Amino acid sequence: MLKTVSFLIGIAASAMIAFPQNANFDPATKVFRLDGGDVTYAFGVNSRGELQQMYWGGRLAAGDHFAQPQPMREAASFDSSYTTTPQEYAGWGAGLYVEPALKVTFADGNRDLVLHYESYSEKPNGFDVVLKDIQRDVRVTLHYSIEPDTGVLARSATIENHESQPITIEQAAAAAWALPRGHYTLNYLTGRWAAEWTLNQEQIRPGERVIESRRGSTSHQANPWFAVQSGEPDENHGEVWFGALAWSGSWRITVEQDQLDAVRITGGFNPFDFGYVLEPGKSLETPVFYAGYSASGLGGASRVLHHFELAHILPHRVGTGDEARPRPRPVIYNSWEATEFNVNEAGQIALAEKAAALGVDRFVMDDGWFGQRKNDHAGLGDWYVNPEKFPHGLKPLIDKVHSLGMDFGLWVEPEMVNPDSDLYRKHPDWVLNFPGRPRSEERNQLVLNLARSDVHDYVLGFLDKLLTENDIAFLKWDYNRNWSEPGWDQMPPAEEKDIYVAYTRSLYSILAELERRHPKVEIESCSGGGGRVDLGILKYADEVWPSDNTDPFDRLTQQDGFTYAYTPQIMMAWVTDSPHWLNHRSTSLTYRMLSSMQGSLGIGANIDKWNDEEVATAKRLIAAYHKVQPTIVQGNLYRLISPRNGSEFSATQTVSRDRKQSVVFAFIHSTQEGRGFPILKLRGLDPEARYALTSIEGKAGAGTPEAASGAWWMNHGLEMDDDFRGDFKAAAFQLDQR
Ligand code: GLA
Repeated sequence: MLKTVSFLIGIAASAMIAFPQNANFDPATKVFRLDGGDVTYAFGVNSRGELQQMYWGGRLAAGDHFAQPQPMREAASFDSSYTTTPQEYAGWGAGLYVEPALKVTFADGNRDLVLHYESYSEKPNGFDVVLKDIQRDVRVTLHYSIEPDTGVLARSATIENHESQPITIEQAAAAAWALPRGHYTLNYLTGRWAAEWTLNQEQIRPGERVIESRRGSTSHQANPWFAVQSGEPDENHGEVWFGALAWSGSWRITVEQDQLDAVRITGGFNPFDFGYVLEPGKSLETPVFYAGYSASGLGGASRVLHHFELAHILPHRVGTGDEARPRPRPVIYNSWEATEFNVNEAGQIALAEKAAALGVDRFVMDDGWFGQRKNDHAGLGDWYVNPEKFPHGLKPLIDKVHSLGMDFGLWVEPEMVNPDSDLYRKHPDWVLNFPGRPRSEERNQLVLNLARSDVHDYVLGFLDKLLTENDIAFLKWDYNRNWSEPGWDQMPPAEEKDIYVAYTRSLYSILAELERRHPKVEIESCSGGGGRVDLGILKYADEVWPSDNTDPFDRLTQQDGFTYAYTPQIMMAWVTDSPHWLNHRSTSLTYRMLSSMQGSLGIGANIDKWNDEEVATAKRLIAAYHKVQPTIVQGNLYRLISPRNGSEFSATQTVSRDRKQSVVFAFIHSTQEGRGFPILKLRGLDPEARYALTSIEGKAGAGTPEAASGAWWMNHGLEMDDDFRGDFKAAAFQLDQR
């Protein structure tokens, strides 16, 4: 019998429904069970004492029971039961050949670690389960919780050393997830600077696919997210298991199919160059690995993840009236592409006046305002206002921005230093380096070692001062290179590798302290575009800069990839100039606007040069965007036609959670052979309700009703005007329940 604490809710005297709590342990079978949303997850203590995975999938009935798990039988003398039994958190020891969750070296050279179940305790929506090595006093507490609405699981581990000597941790995962033998497709996101968010889809084969960053931060090259689908990729149908790591340092996720075709996904700190020294009495906490399940294909999986991120990851700013959910992002203006480093008081004020006239909510000054920052060769680290560009400080500009009805944001890159700076001349020892070795510069800059307490205090100090002395609502927090020579010469040689943990923890602690001191200040995580987007930084950052590539056509595919893992709420998208600097492609302002309106809209063009018609178009579409923004960025996203693989067309639809409103975007890449736009069969509407159709941009096909039932729009579909053809065309519609 499961130990079920039931809450009895009386609906009518004759119809009593029992709601079990989300976390149950059955002492007779030693099975732990977690239920949330449409999901059940179960694991138990097997007859050898190991913690064994049992089930992860669609929600089971409260009355369903599991028998105690049994270890896999020895398949062959080469395939020990220890390696084929799907353990929740396997130590590297005995005969383990798959990825270990934990690998350590003891002071005496012993490297055998076999973790058995010790005890558990309950906590809200979950458990803490303690494992211990069969002989030595190394304990691992596995933290489990399930979010009741979405069924998203959170797992992490705390490793404690109760031995009398230090141990070195060489590999530590947050969690391992197991799937039974089957045929699966793996989805993961890769890229590079200006080309982030490529969705890769491949069949899982025997062996291991490694998705990782060895760069000290999250990276453009791979993102710590995966989705595994049963069978072929399908947007709307089929079982999908997905997960995302909350860590902004070097990370690794391995997807492994073993010799018996079972699949395991293991993720946490990247073991490459890892070596964390755990002194007696000390503990190491891993990042959290979130994971979920949907039976409604990849689209269903991303909708679950989006709602979880909005409700449980992103900051809910206290005192801004949006404690329940993060508020939709202000429409920003950012001057980077217009002025680059050539910022000054008069120029920024001129842009601010133009931006306000468009209906922009927030004016952001980018790079170039501080130190001797004329280009990217100097100034990083010297966070005083440049007196030639801003002779009266930032106040006149900020006051002007406020008088125009906008709030003010500022670009910073706190973790970096140019060798040509006062800071570096004073503190050359503050950067990551190996003494006596060259210091590799990228973009003429070096990485400050945030793990050092003096550097931590300096960075926190200057940011606190900046925010205290100026009325700043928003920081665009940039990070424009990866690590090299990651030495930490203050530490004894054996402990230098602790930097992989200490740096990121120091970053989080600065962000947490700034939030405590300046709770209303919002943060954008930028790293030369999308180099630092993960569920770790998103506990502190309200939004991200997905890519320096602002080409509106490229962005359609990037935005498609991005939203598999992250909510459109955080996906900033600027409208910039045409022809575009990267691809030299010319597109209409309407096309650029609609591409950006799929996410959180911003303007990044040189609006000084816009003519009256461009100003009128932008003003009209910003006003239209403001009206439907909550639906676009916080609703249920349906990908109707994918822009991937050179598709001629693409389309997305979002539906507000109460199903009262829906917004549709349609894009033509390049019409071929006179083909008209496909009829869009909408999704997620209330079939019984009536929805009126309004054009935001473009026309619906002749004969399209002004209003029709949800069933009509979903079954008959929405037709575009026959003239909707050409290159780089865009249309958008809204549907409102009557
Ligand atoms: C990075 C950012 C850009 C801009 C520049 C400024 O590349 O991604 O948006 O802020 O730095 O130097």
